[in-house]
Amino acid sequence: MSSKVLVLPGDGIGPEIVDEALKVLEALDTGADARFEIERAPIGGEAIDACGVPLPEPTLERSRVCDAILLGAVGGPRWDGLAREIRPERGLLALRAELGVFANLRPAIAYPQLADASTLKADVVRGLDVLIVRELTGGIYFGRPRGIRAREDGCREGFNTLVYAEDEIERVCRAAFDAARRRSGRVCSVDKANVLEASELWREVATQVAEEYDDVELSHMYVDNAAMQLVRAPKQFDVIVTSNMFGDILSDLASMLTGSIGMLPSASLDASGKGLYEPIHGAAPDIVGRGVANPLATILSAAMMLRYSLDAADLADRIERAVASVLDRGLRTPDIESPGTTVVGTREMGDAVAAAL
Ligand code: IPM
Ligand code: MG
Repeated sequence: MSSKVLVLPGDGIGPEIVDEALKVLEALDTGADARFEIERAPIGGEAIDACGVPLPEPTLERSRVCDAILLGAVGGPRWDGLAREIRPERGLLALRAELGVFANLRPAIAYPQLADASTLKADVVRGLDVLIVRELTGGIYFGRPRGIRAREDGCREGFNTLVYAEDEIERVCRAAFDAARRRSGRVCSVDKANVLEASELWREVATQVAEEYDDVELSHMYVDNAAMQLVRAPKQFDVIVTSNMFGDILSDLASMLTGSIGMLPSASLDASGKGLYEPIHGAAPDIVGRGVANPLATILSAAMMLRYSLDAADLADRIERAVASVLDRGLRTPDIESPGTTVVGTREMGDAVAAAL
């Protein structure tokens, strides 16, 4: 039986990098029966241009009935002037919320071949393998009330609400503890419990969940310290679990430990394991159409999709091995180039991974 994959290329470099991931999936499709049934739908700016909204109803409908979703990126300067409610990013946020994909897994793995591509010393990052589990459908991204209003004196104020319920904290912590069980068994919960009530509750619930996991060790860290520790000694971490906004920030930070944000894939899972897969980077308007975007984060996201939603861990392993072998051969997109390597474009990188399968 083939798996239904909904592809949402989106904006900016989205279509370029998604094409390379599809090339890799196609290269796996060698048997008599196609393994993947690929459908495309618009989201973000592309959808705004086509139908006036960033998440059209047919896109949402199709995302509900498919087995997994592979997304490129959304957003771009063209749509920045639009009202907040219909900006491209709102399409992505609505999709995450509608699908209930609350557990966002963002692995930051420093490939040994890229140790020199990081801005940090090679010794600090070599061997790094940390998993950030970011809460994705709650917190300040979604809390109400929110808006921009005028004070009585006419001065405007912007406001958002940081709110987390116990059940929201509990389920994402469980996802982190379950993941830690399959790794080195350590979870660091990152919060700002010295200042925020939402974090105080977060810490309490994380501690309760930990009681059910004898084999996993829980520690807590304030987010400012966590940012410092990620740069100072990132290898102390195994699994980090944190809120939506802290996870957004820390995962960009962690990506630079690996050499480039163009290397970080992600899986966003619901309670049943259905998932939305996307690179953690954005639409990169500055390099659109130049053929230099790094497709590896998206290719690795496709590997995560095979592992977590399509029950094909063997194929995921093959993709990950192919990526490693291409890096071994010294092929690099410009974002991960270092002396002595060969710079290639988006397409050549995708071709090389497909060929290495
Ligand atoms: C990410 C991105 C998104 C986020 C944007 C594009 C809305 O930065 O996936 O990390 O903030 O979640
Ligand atoms: Mg981000």
